Amino acid sequence: MARQLFPTIQDEIAALKKERNAVLLAHNYQTGEIQEIADIAGDSLRLAQEAAKTRADVILFCGVHFMAETASILCPDKKVLIPDPEAGCTLADMIKPEDVRKWKTQNPDGVVVCYVNTSAAVKAESDYCCTSSNAEQVVRSISQDRKILFVPDFFLGTYVKKRTGRENIELWQGYCPTHMLIQSRELEQLKREHPGAELIMHPECGCLTKSMHLADQILSTEGMVRYAKDSSKKTFIIATETGILHRMIKDNPGKQFIPANVNAVCSYMKMNSLEKIVASLENLQYEIKVPKDLADRARRPIERMISIV
Ligand code: 13P
Repeated sequence: MARQLFPTIQDEIAALKKERNAVLLAHNYQTGEIQEIADIAGDSLRLAQEAAKTRADVILFCGVHFMAETASILCPDKKVLIPDPEAGCTLADMIKPEDVRKWKTQNPDGVVVCYVNTSAAVKAESDYCCTSSNAEQVVRSISQDRKILFVPDFFLGTYVKKRTGRENIELWQGYCPTHMLIQSRELEQLKREHPGAELIMHPECGCLTKSMHLADQILSTEGMVRYAKDSSKKTFIIATETGILHRMIKDNPGKQFIPANVNAVCSYMKMNSLEKIVASLENLQYEIKVPKDLADRARRPIERMISIV
């Protein structure tokens, strides 16, 4: 059968989405053109919540592998697709399930809090999951006398430790290479050049321990978008992956957004494209399916998190 022709690739995606009864979820670090065709663009927490309540048959997750896995864990009966199966996360790869098991053997009363940037196998060994928007709340919900292992992001863990004033938190030494590109020297320079600007920083920033005092706000990607909209300030320095700027600029004509580092671009996030989205919906590829036993175990820490926030 001849393939139908569409005026634009966006029209083709809209038609395929309808045909498949698919919802397209896009992380805030996706390209602007993907965010534009998404049903929902948001941070990891929002996208997980949206996945959990969708009535669609197919969830097309434009993000990275662990995000699609989280959707599959929360929606075992749905078909979860990712446009490019190679879209991974270096930070998530920095912790393995055996690392968590070893710590638990050594700390039988300890509690493991895993950042959502982890594999399903690591989540399955953890007690609580958290995202950058709720890590503090999750840690505060855990009894003071329990020792905590926070994995894998050292900088988010340091931030939570500082915010909660809690000493009994061990931090894994993982980091996001993209956020590592954001350095305090450049932030200081940008603050000097734009004295009226607010510095909004993601807690994964590699310079966070040094630059916490420089930041006006430390927020998740969704928190950043919301804050920029609500603030009466006109200029913002944005310390995170540059994909976030698309929505900020679009939602706030008249405000100026300055990336802390124009090279802070996650190559994994940028592997997805409109062409791969078409192929994904046409061929129902690439499915991310977490095996039932693993999904059942990995769901507990995620559901605990969702019940707290
Ligand atoms: P957010 O939850 O703030 O969107 O961050 C997710 C992420 O992967 C950052 O690298």
